[in-house]
Amino acid sequence: MQRVRAVVARAEGEPVSVETVLVPAPGPGEAVVKVWACGVCHTDLHYREGGVNDEFPFLLGHEAAGSVESVGEGVTGIEPGDFVVLNWRAVCGQCRACRRGRPQYCFDTHNARQRMTLADGTELTPALGIGAFADKTLVAAGQCTKVDHAARPEAVGLLGCGVMAGLGAALNTGRVGRGESVAVIGCGGVGSAAVAGARLAGAARIIAVDLEKRKLDTAMKLGATHTVNAAKADTVAAVRELTDGFGADVVIDAVGTPKTYEQAFYARDLAGTVVLVGVPAPETRLELPLLEVFGRGGALKSSWYGDCLPSRDFPVFTDLYLQGRLDLDAFVSETIGIGDVEAAFERMHRGDVLRSVVVL
Ligand SMILES: NC(=O)c1ccc[n+]([C@@H]2O[C@H](COP(=O)([O-])OP(=O)(O)OC[C@H]3O[C@@H](n4cnc5c(N)ncnc54)[C@H](O)[C@@H]3O)[C@@H](O)[C@H]2O)c1
Ligand SMILES: [Zn+2]
Ligand SMILES: [Zn+2]
Repeated sequence: MQRVRAVVARAEGEPVSVETVLVPAPGPGEAVVKVWACGVCHTDLHYREGGVNDEFPFLLGHEAAGSVESVGEGVTGIEPGDFVVLNWRAVCGQCRACRRGRPQYCFDTHNARQRMTLADGTELTPALGIGAFADKTLVAAGQCTKVDHAARPEAVGLLGCGVMAGLGAALNTGRVGRGESVAVIGCGGVGSAAVAGARLAGAARIIAVDLEKRKLDTAMKLGATHTVNAAKADTVAAVRELTDGFGADVVIDAVGTPKTYEQAFYARDLAGTVVLVGVPAPETRLELPLLEVFGRGGALKSSWYGDCLPSRDFPVFTDLYLQGRLDLDAFVSETIGIGDVEAAFERMHRGDVLRSVVVL
């Protein structure tokens, strides 16, 4: 058992606080990780606002890189000292998806069995089974993915959630091909990563759509060839105009509202693909003419965590980063201390940052 500092959300809508948290020694199949850096994601704010579930208090933070400190019984594949990016989909190897050779869709992913607690013994719910705004955290060993230790933790830690979701939405789910046209609606951390993914895939035309000019400027740096300011122009008409009147081969909705999804649907060329990677609010509904769904052909897909397989994808994207082919540093808007998470939520809400990253 160790005592560490960690960021806790005690109750719905209340500001988060830095608390002393007890981290148990790793049990069978578990690992304790010394966290070096952890990004502030929109999902952490969803937790604090009670938008995920009501299992307060939450231990926040889930986009992290660090080093393995200790491992429990039966752990193979990682050892103390390894540099790892944490993932929130440790695959089981046994479920029907895993058995069919599609572990990226595993239907039974797992986390550590033991709980971290407050000093008075109150059990904490770690965000996405990670809880990494903490000096150290307890996870399932399968949540640790080894990557090249030469990489900057603030940058590669972001592969643990939002950046992977965006890259994977373009590369894994959308299967963007060389020479294709791609439109990305919403260019926050996730959408900008989708732009970067489309560039890696060799897309010829990459259209970034956002309401904020500074988001569009960053998207240009990451590979967008055209931008649409949705506060001023009609998204569907603008994307069509930029694609010879036809629409894009792949349109990625990185916002997740009925409005942006409908725009994605109509901004897509015949037989094209829509990818939904933004997470919709529970009460939202979608209405589309079924004849259009049929008549336009193609595919309407959702992207869980970028349909990534951490063991396959994290090391590859880390290597591309180290080779200068994927600018993960562009996502790190600022580095902050463990006491600054509440202020970072404010800046995220105002749209000031792609990612604030807590450095420990
Ligand atoms: N599928 C997954 O596994 C996964 C993983 C991580 C995050 N997400 C989700 O992805 C979404 C985006 O996350 P983020 O961290 O990039 O958030 P963010 O707040 O940084 O970015 C959202 C962007 O969308 C823009 N936007 C909002 N409405 C728009 C509109 N009508 N037209 C164009 N642009 C619009 C905003 O200006 C902002 O730049 C969230 O819903 C998040 O929960 C999904
Ligand atoms: Zn499985
Ligand atoms: Zn996240």
